[in-house]
Amino acid sequence: MNHLVIIVIATVAFFGCGADAQCYNCTYTIMGEMMVGQKGCMEPGFDSTGIETVPCENKCKISKMEMADTGITPQMTVYIRGCQNKAVEGPCVDVDAMEVTAGTTITQTCCEGAKCNNAGLIQLSIALILAPLCALVF
Ligand SMILES: *[C@@H]1O[C@H](CO)[C@@H](O)[C@H](O)[C@H]1NC(C)=O
Repeated sequence: MNHLVIIVIATVAFFGCGADAQCYNCTYTIMGEMMVGQKGCMEPGFDSTGIETVPCENKCKISKMEMADTGITPQMTVYIRGCQNKAVEGPCVDVDAMEVTAGTTITQTCCEGAKCNNAGLIQLSIALILAPLCALVF
């Protein structure tokens, strides 16, 4: 039993809780043949090489915005990882391919804990399990 408690605390401490949590912060835009930003920001395909982390007092997120070819602008995909700025953007909400305007969809996953917005959903579910543990331990 004691071992379990120690493992839980060590895990929580390792992944980080609360105030000193960091998020990966990057963008990558694919617009037709043009790419701007850091390729490692893609999801799937995350590569932390050269990607900065920023302190975050709120949730980290991974967002993907897809815009269809309009005839004037080519098809565009924007990947964003970062810290949700609650004051400016409101609380982070998970959305799955939500259509915001015709031809534009947003997919977003929020997570808590240090650098949890790294790769995809498996990591995020670990963070989801850890978040309540953080609340218990700290
Ligand atoms: C995150 O990256 C964006 C785009 O590169 C930049 O504008 C923003 O200042 C960065 N955020 C922080 C907290 O440094």
